Amino acid sequence: MRKKIVAGNWKMNTTRPDGIELAKAVVARAAEVPAGVGLIIAPPFTHLCCCGKALEGSKVELSAQNCADHAKGAYTGEVSVDMLKAVGCQWTILGHSERRQYYGETDEKLVEKVKLALAAELGVILCVGENLDERKAGKHLQIVEDQTKAVLANFSAEDMKKIVIAYEPVWAIGTGKTATAQQAEEIHAYIRKVLADKFGAAVAEDVTILYGGSCKPSNAKELFAQKDIDGGLIGGAALKADDFIQIALSF
Ligand code: 13P
Repeated sequence: MRKKIVAGNWKMNTTRPDGIELAKAVVARAAEVPAGVGLIIAPPFTHLCCCGKALEGSKVELSAQNCADHAKGAYTGEVSVDMLKAVGCQWTILGHSERRQYYGETDEKLVEKVKLALAAELGVILCVGENLDERKAGKHLQIVEDQTKAVLANFSAEDMKKIVIAYEPVWAIGTGKTATAQQAEEIHAYIRKVLADKFGAAVAEDVTILYGGSCKPSNAKELFAQKDIDGGLIGGAALKADDFIQIALSF
């Protein structure tokens, strides 16, 4: 049985004190969330360490939002997987569309990052998703297939035990426009087929595939009711503990 997960990507929001407060507020309600639903928060690098401390003894796991594409050395401004491990991260998000769009994240760099993360025993939340022009042109399935294959061509069925996919249509991120449950399910089922073609049906069945893009308490239930949607990667609504927990209670 694949795991259900609700993960909060805080992006470049919260300072250290706000972040600790938010992490504590999530922890305070985490026990309401059924055991079968994993909770993850991804604060900014600067307060991963203190937010991690706030999570101790709770079911909430800690994720980074990115990692370096090199193990260590002269890469000014970068943060390595070993550094993330040492402050208590169990996960890192990789390939978010904001990183692809604004910071020139290429599939080649992503492959290096995923390799390093897995070698450090970090779980990976790998993001894929089409932009509005690609959807209007009817290319959404192809784009998502290409992005998924470009990275996963380098990984094994065993590696997939540590990789979660997040489908995040770029046109739905932070715009208030959610993909309909049918639009999201179409892509999720398609990603699972792409995984089945490469790794076999049994492996594909076990991969958690999250939806991200204006997911909130009012639409999470319908999205999570879809056969291939195993939870969410939440942006804006993860900045309010009550909304985040409400989403996690929507299965
Ligand atoms: P929003 O929930 O703010 O649309 O962001 C989604 C996202 O990008 C999560 O990674």
